[in-house]
Amino acid sequence: MAPNKYKTAVLIGAGNLAFHLGQALFAKGIKIMQVFSRTETSAKPLADILNATFTTNLDNIIPDADYYIICVKDDAITEVVKAMPAVSGIVMHTSGSIEISVLQKFAKAAVFYPLQTFSKSKANVDFELVPICIEANSSETLTELKKLASLISSNVQEADSAQRKTIHLAAVFACNFSNHLFSISADLLAEQNLDFSLLLPLIEETFSKIKKVSPAEAQTGPAKRKDFITINKQLELLKDQPELANIYSMFSEGILKKQK
Ligand SMILES: NC(=O)c1ccc[n+]([C@@H]2O[C@H](COP(=O)([O-])OP(=O)(O)OC[C@H]3O[C@@H](n4cnc5c(N)ncnc54)[C@H](OP(=O)(O)O)[C@@H]3O)[C@@H](O)[C@H]2O)c1
Repeated sequence: MAPNKYKTAVLIGAGNLAFHLGQALFAKGIKIMQVFSRTETSAKPLADILNATFTTNLDNIIPDADYYIICVKDDAITEVVKAMPAVSGIVMHTSGSIEISVLQKFAKAAVFYPLQTFSKSKANVDFELVPICIEANSSETLTELKKLASLISSNVQEADSAQRKTIHLAAVFACNFSNHLFSISADLLAEQNLDFSLLLPLIEETFSKIKKVSPAEAQTGPAKRKDFITINKQLELLKDQPELANIYSMFSEGILKKQK
């Protein structure tokens, strides 16, 4: 028996997260009734995938769904909440950094924060191991939310707004900033007609190692070894790229300080 066969959801937003979360919930029997986004170009393709209707007007969102899942960019959540009509279902946002109190106008308010990186261009994210951090404004809503999150993930954790902000901050360092560093690496290699794939085994080992030892223990490289001659040679290579030289110095100093 599919226990959530008759649970219904409205997705508000049609970006990276809505694309993956919508499909994961749909696959587990949640009926996505409607997708809202500001333009048809954005709302319709996702609605089509989910066998849902779409709207570009928040006044027209279906009033009696079980779940309203807000997946718009953080800075637009307040504006979207303001424009939403009163609804009886659970209204949840999906942001790491926004307090639950932004949803105070709704009787059933919640946060459903999946701790993973989602891009439309990467198909099929497996939610099973994705930690989902949840928070709700009542124990009844929390219980209901746990059921929803547990449908797609075996790692559902309660986190209040303060904890979630720290989780998101840590995630920005771990994921977004490391990815930016990969992007810098790719540019440096491209300058010498070298392919980024050269670094993939190194990157994979870096991530594999921190499953076994702490990141501090796993650190290697010129700064860790205090190879100051090498550090100066690398800074020389960056003499025409002062922004990169700054990043290089900042990270090297950080690694040196961490050892003290
Ligand atoms: N992507 C991730 O890895 C990830 C992970 C965990 C949590 N989240 C959370 O998920 C939420 C959505 O992130 P995302 O990565 O999916 O963003 P995204 O791909 O950039 O999509 C943003 C969505 O917000 C809509 N939007 C932007 N400004 C708006 C406004 N003023 N009014 C109404 N809608 C507006 C966009 O609509 P248009 O198409 O019309 O521009 C689009 O549907 C955020 O709260 C984020 O913190 C994301």
